[in-house]
Amino acid sequence: MSNVSLTRHLLEEQRAGHISADLRLLIEVVARACKTISIAVGKGALGGVLGEAGTPGAASMNIQGEAQKKLDVIANDVLLEANAWGGHLAGLASEEMDHSMPIADLSPDGYPSGNYLLLFDPLDGSSNIDVNISVGTIFSVLRCPEGVAVPGDEHFLQPGTDQVAAGYCTYGPNTTLVLTVGHGTHAFTLDREVGSFMLTTHGMRIPEETKEFAVNMSNQRHWQPPMQRYIGDLLLGKEGPRGKDFNMRWVASMVADVHRILTRGGIFSYPLDAKCADKGGKLRLMYEANPMSLLVEQAGGAASTGRMRMLEVQPSGLHQRVPVFLGSKLEVEAAVRYHLDHD
Ligand code: AHG
Ligand code: MN
Ligand code: MN
Ligand code: MN
Repeated sequence: MSNVSLTRHLLEEQRAGHISADLRLLIEVVARACKTISIAVGKGALGGVLGEAGTPGAASMNIQGEAQKKLDVIANDVLLEANAWGGHLAGLASEEMDHSMPIADLSPDGYPSGNYLLLFDPLDGSSNIDVNISVGTIFSVLRCPEGVAVPGDEHFLQPGTDQVAAGYCTYGPNTTLVLTVGHGTHAFTLDREVGSFMLTTHGMRIPEETKEFAVNMSNQRHWQPPMQRYIGDLLLGKEGPRGKDFNMRWVASMVADVHRILTRGGIFSYPLDAKCADKGGKLRLMYEANPMSLLVEQAGGAASTGRMRMLEVQPSGLHQRVPVFLGSKLEVEAAVRYHLDHD
């Protein structure tokens, strides 16, 4: 293990001219919030944090139409509280909040407002909380447009290429923060005794080819024809047109599935299906697809909607959903070919 802490790594990124001092401090605050969430997740039933938010029989719903888990709400509150007073942010947006929030609204005591916008999925994979399977936090940082002091939802609608930082933290057997500021993707494991994130993989690289795919197969009958054909060919194995046997994994926590792919390759997909077609997909562009796509591209992988590069999608809504294909470059390109050949 290296003896480079997240703090030292970020200072070196600042000295190299890759990030401003404000962005460095903002990432430190997000990492600190992730440590707090990690402690809450780790307490499980002992901490009274499992189960649904709201009152019995009347679970609270979020804007996505999902019943909120207690930890969805706790993680959201931790991130809001941690970021309210730092002075680095102009506003925040979350999967769990109907609208974005300018810092001015968060801090009646007059905390200073900064130049960045923070977007997050506070607790990803929340269906896994109660069964003790990995969950995570995903975040994305954008610049607040020039001259905008109090940002509204529309100021967050920037394509993924404009992200100045993106990352996730996975709460599993260990707590690992994976981060990019546009100069490679790096992993930091939480040293629980010391309380610091330590650099454990510098420059993650996703193998270009893979024999592993991740998809929720129970949706197969609802998929569109190109997806049916693509996965159908993978399942044919050595005898099929792809000429190799594929293995399948599906955790149902995007953070955990993407972490596996960043570690050993693979393709992750959540395509359009008949159940989510009216919404444009299942996964959210701003809190899930864009940050993960930047991390994957920075590790030599590819990320697409099936028809275009994810990071070039011009967002039209804060909670917009998209079909997602990301991971090993050549495999993502293969999946995209099935879609383009069909059109
Ligand atoms: P969230 O818990 O933040 O709402 O996200 C859940 C997402 C994602 O983590 C995962 O890949 C996907 O939903 C799982 O969907 P299925 O339950 O349909 O497999
Ligand atoms: Mn959710
Ligand atoms: Mn999620
Ligand atoms: Mn979530």
